[in-house]
Amino acid sequence: MNRSSLLLAALAFAVTLLVTRHRGSTARSTIVAGVVFGVVLALGWSWQRFLSVSPIQISKQNSAGDDSAVVSGDVASPSGVNPVELLSSRPIEVLGGGYVSSDRCEQCHAAQHKTWHASYHRTMTQVATTKTVFGEFDGREFDWPGGSCRVFRRGDQFWIEMDDPDESLTGVEKRIERPVVMTTGSHHMQVYWYPIGKQRSLGQVPVVFLKSEKKWIPRNAAFLMPPDMGSGPETSRWNAACLWCHTTRGRTRPVGGFDQPLQLVGMDSQVAEFGIACEACHGPGDRHVRYRNGKLPELKSDPIVEPSRISHQRSSQICGQCHGLTVSHSRRHLELEAMNGTSFRPGEALSASRWVVRYDQPTKQHLEQFGSGVSMLTDSFWQDGMIRVSGREFTGLMESRCYSEGQMSCLSCHTMHPPEDESRPLLEWANDQLKLGMDQDQACLQCHQDGDYTAQSHTHHASQSMGSRCYNCHAPHTTFGLLKAIRSHQVSSPSVAESTQVGRPNACNLCHLDKTLQWTADYLKSWYQIEPSPLDDQQRSISAAVLWAVKGDAGQRALAAWHMGWRPAQEASGTEWIPPFLADLLLDPYAAVRFVAFKSLATLPPYESLEYDFVGQPGTWPEAKERVSEIWEGRSRRRSGFGEVLLNPDGRLDEQRFDTLKKMRDDTPIYLAE
Ligand code: HEC
Ligand code: HEC
Ligand code: HEC
Ligand code: HEC
Ligand code: HEC
Ligand code: HEC
Ligand code: HEC
Ligand code: HEC
Repeated sequence: MNRSSLLLAALAFAVTLLVTRHRGSTARSTIVAGVVFGVVLALGWSWQRFLSVSPIQISKQNSAGDDSAVVSGDVASPSGVNPVELLSSRPIEVLGGGYVSSDRCEQCHAAQHKTWHASYHRTMTQVATTKTVFGEFDGREFDWPGGSCRVFRRGDQFWIEMDDPDESLTGVEKRIERPVVMTTGSHHMQVYWYPIGKQRSLGQVPVVFLKSEKKWIPRNAAFLMPPDMGSGPETSRWNAACLWCHTTRGRTRPVGGFDQPLQLVGMDSQVAEFGIACEACHGPGDRHVRYRNGKLPELKSDPIVEPSRISHQRSSQICGQCHGLTVSHSRRHLELEAMNGTSFRPGEALSASRWVVRYDQPTKQHLEQFGSGVSMLTDSFWQDGMIRVSGREFTGLMESRCYSEGQMSCLSCHTMHPPEDESRPLLEWANDQLKLGMDQDQACLQCHQDGDYTAQSHTHHASQSMGSRCYNCHAPHTTFGLLKAIRSHQVSSPSVAESTQVGRPNACNLCHLDKTLQWTADYLKSWYQIEPSPLDDQQRSISAAVLWAVKGDAGQRALAAWHMGWRPAQEASGTEWIPPFLADLLLDPYAAVRFVAFKSLATLPPYESLEYDFVGQPGTWPEAKERVSEIWEGRSRRRSGFGEVLLNPDGRLDEQRFDTLKKMRDDTPIYLAE
């Protein structure tokens, strides 16, 4: 990416990132920027003016006009910056607009407050303190291709030293030290933010901390994205984009309205509450509290929204405001919401306040007209219109017949407040927030009692087999995000056509990793009378999972690698033949694929303690691959499966066929916009 396209991309941030949600910044914004540029000009943002603005400097000014926002490392005392000073240079909580905060609700709903308090919703966005930060700021320095940084502490504050992420905007290269003031995420990973010194605008620290791996990784490595996809600065993205779904009533509040380059002027952002609190799901609570205190006698009914008492569509849309793909209806509306917060109110139709994105023509037109381009569609969906990225469960649910013809809602399976007498620890519930037992067939059988779907006559597997579980055939792990495969929330049935025509791995071959598409087609025909699709020689003779892992595109490689570490698939397919395929993926050009392959290898005891750093120096990766091959070669060669998984009759890998396949690898750039 050259400098001027970065400038363009930067300018486009404020607009496009209100529209689409990305956790990483990408070269895609360059393309988007081209389209948005016209809009930007129409809004009166001057390109010339933008170019002539002096470099961003950490200023002593903030919106209140006082001089407290001193955040430059140069002036910091050894114990850090006075916390009061930091307060004026980061977003703050301000109530109003009918929002009263979770503290208020707790006074009368202690039980619900307790369950919510245990959820990752609550801790989605936090002020950085020794209690909330789990990244290891231990003074270590590290580098990766394209950057380096040092993470350390000053007293109770967390600091980072790095190349100024804004140097592409300012043209001035410099090393800076900044305090971390906010965090995003608490379950799988944590992202950190520092004040840029313009009002309450934040910049993103270029490294992210993985919680269970206890590992720092460059931000781009957290996504499935092409290695050469440039990364622009993240300046102000928190204020313009993340706050919509990660806080309660977030407001961007660009200073001076929308006629100025937002990034340089800064944003005076406010939220009702950090994290996703009661009122994000129940609506603003002021009138409810007054009603319950007898202050609104004229009201006939309680104005608070109880999601389980409204229609399945309306309750799912409450979740869909964040767990679905939507864009603004118009630029005017976008600006209004950026000032006042979302206009969506729980209980109302989501489509009244947002354009609900589907993979269809009207959406395409809307996106084009809006100026954000159709990349949202190509980066988020399979080509048959099924959503393929995490965090967009409503977009999948919405396309399921169980929802459109039945009453399925998020609450069919999830609960936000498990009952107090439940034996399951809250910590266990918090992971996926499912109702007790709803990770099993019961989730489906609550409605599908008409046919005997549990019987072998339907599943063709023994009743206790993992191959008989409804989810495994009808909601396989074909979406990807947070560096893992996740169950699709669009209910569908396995077919060979989805694999040959759309490229989506089908449920049967995601468990039967050693079997060909031909094998699946034959059984689908004899068991379910599904007409077979045409197959080529390789699809008839080589296992589908091997084809995805070796010659598939990056999306397919990631899913194949993930399933090689999935226990039910390992049981169905055996594991003896798997290591060489995962070993080769340790050298994959995509960081996300390397990570998943490494994690899957670690599920196999001989490779548990393999030394390998998926974001470390590429020169060290072949060594790890060699090590796996060595161990594998040394083990018994009585292996199940032969030709289909590229083994010779003596149990060794057929290197020649492997290499031939690998040369055919599909290198189409894949970016999954989670
Ligand atoms: C002054 C006490 C009080 C406060 C404060 C209060 N509530 Fe309530 N709330 C009640 C009472 C009383 C009921 C009715 C009995 C019940 O369901 O517990 C109720 C019911 C509810 C219901 C269920 C409504 C239904 O249809 O079943 C929800 C949801 C709710 N409150 C949410 C909230 C939220 C969110 C807040 C904070 C914004 C809040 N409440 C603050 C007293 C209060
Ligand atoms: C449209 C709503 C939306 C927007 C905008 C959004 N996110 Fe998210 N984010 C989600 C949802 C939903 C999840 C949970 C996804 C899941 O579990 O797959 C999530 C999860 C995450 C996580 C993982 C949290 C954890 O505990 O492991 C991180 C990190 C994250 N988002 C960062 C960001 C950043 C940074 C931005 C702004 C650039 C952003 N998100 C913007 C909806 C959004
Ligand atoms: C992420 C969305 C979400 C958040 C955040 C949330 N709730 Fe709920 N709440 C729900 C849903 C959905 C239900 C319906 C019952 C269920 O989930 O099983 C509900 C039900 C309720 C009820 C009705 C009684 C019950 O337990 O079913 C009350 C009262 C309530 N919530 C209060 C609160 C309070 C107080 C908070 C904050 C401390 C809060 N909720 C946070 C989604 C949410
Ligand atoms: C204001 C935005 C918002 C709303 C409304 C919302 N969510 Fe979330 N949800 C998120 C974000 C962001 C995360 C990521 C939290 C994390 O994992 O740190 C998340 C996480 C989750 C998770 C995964 C928890 C985990 O970490 O494993 C589930 C399940 C979930 N939400 C379900 C729901 C349901 C069901 C509703 C509606 C009743 C709902 N959410 C409403 C934003 C929202
Ligand atoms: C038929 C049951 C069912 C329905 C309906 C359902 N979910 Fe889920 N959901 C699940 C199961 C099971 C999991 C665990 C998936 C896994 O382990 O990959 C899950 C996981 C999730 C996660 C966590 C994904 C992650 O990061 O691992 C989120 C977020 C989520 N659901 C949100 C929603 C929302 C929002 C809705 C409504 C739009 C919804 N779900 C509807 C069953 C359901
Ligand atoms: C709230 C009720 C409800 C729940 C829960 C539910 N379904 Fe459905 N489902 C329906 C209805 C209604 C239809 C449409 C009519 C029919 O085929 O029975 C349907 C249709 C289907 C279809 C046909 C889809 C198609 O495109 O042809 C499948 C397959 C299916 N459901 C499987 C499942 C599975 C598996 C689960 C659990 C993960 C599930 N359903 C959960 C109500 C539900
Ligand atoms: C969650 C994993 C899983 C899924 C999904 C799955 N199976 Fe199986 N399958 C198994 C397991 C495990 C066995 C071993 C015997 C048993 O447990 O029933 C098996 C056995 C079989 C067998 C008999 C043994 C053999 O290898 O010849 C056939 C045929 C079969 N499955 C076909 C399919 C087809 C076709 C699909 C898709 C419609 C499918 N399976 C989906 C796990 C799965
Ligand atoms: C081994 C894979 C497999 C398992 C396990 C499985 N199904 Fe199916 N199911 C299928 C296939 C394949 C079809 C599609 C048949 C067709 O297209 O005609 C299907 C179709 C359906 C349908 C659509 C209506 C119909 O009768 O055609 C429903 C509903 C359904 N399954 C429910 C369930 C439920 C509920 C469970 C769990 C108890 C379940 N299935 C388990 C493979 C499976």
